[in-house]
Amino acid sequence: MSKINQSKKKTVQTVIRKKSKGEKVTMLTAYDAFIASLLDKTGIDIILVGDSAANVLHGYQSTIPMTMDIMIAHTSAVSRGTSKALVVGDMPFLSFQPSVKTAIKNAGRFLKEGSAEAVKIEGGLEMVDTITRVIECGIPVMGHVGLTPQSIHRFGGPKVQGRVEKSRNYLKESALALQEAGCFAIVLELMESDVAKEITESLDTTATIGIGAGPFCDGQVLVTNDMLGLKDDGFSPKFLRQYANLTENIITAVEQYMEDVKTGNFPSEKESY
Ligand code: KIV
Repeated sequence: MSKINQSKKKTVQTVIRKKSKGEKVTMLTAYDAFIASLLDKTGIDIILVGDSAANVLHGYQSTIPMTMDIMIAHTSAVSRGTSKALVVGDMPFLSFQPSVKTAIKNAGRFLKEGSAEAVKIEGGLEMVDTITRVIECGIPVMGHVGLTPQSIHRFGGPKVQGRVEKSRNYLKESALALQEAGCFAIVLELMESDVAKEITESLDTTATIGIGAGPFCDGQVLVTNDMLGLKDDGFSPKFLRQYANLTENIITAVEQYMEDVKTGNFPSEKESY
């Protein structure tokens, strides 16, 4: 039986404090109130309502089709299931890229309609002006650099970033600029671990949260459905550690139910009403 964590409400300040004390930050994704409530009970620091919902819930091949309305619906469900973790809403493709005004309006929707406490915005140097303005409006921002899935077509696939000098410099300069802009954390996705280490060591007030970026980040994130084995899309990158196989449990349970219905074993007299 796992211990239910009694910790206090987590905020962006908790994340910044953990960075300064060298304590690891834990983050997982959720898209609905029930899973969010389970994560929340464990004492996880951050619940990210990721646009990975596109892949793991909606059956899309990429995160590109995700819309603001769908993200807001997931975010408000997650917020209803959460009382302690920091809830971060992931801004979907083209909800912030077209203009600063669009970015502020849509980031605001995550707080006003989704009850999120921060938003995540993909992009490095090219997004710094937009992120600065969003933060100035009072909306905390988590950055996201490396393999940013909304730009998958520009990368030409899930390619590890930071392998050549130009890419390494871009990543390092982006992280520093995002810290300067006021991001409380930055996701470092699919990059050489020595670059992630350098970035992490170069930042004082911004926590790095890695996924496929090695062990030297200030924290780690995984997509919850991936780490629980709650999907069957064959996605199994090297960086993914699977902690459960819920797909197998569900199939076994459903097969047993069907068998019981067919053989008349369910319902029994006692289960009739
Ligand atoms: O959408 C998502 O779940 C993410 C995480 C993988 C960082 O962006």
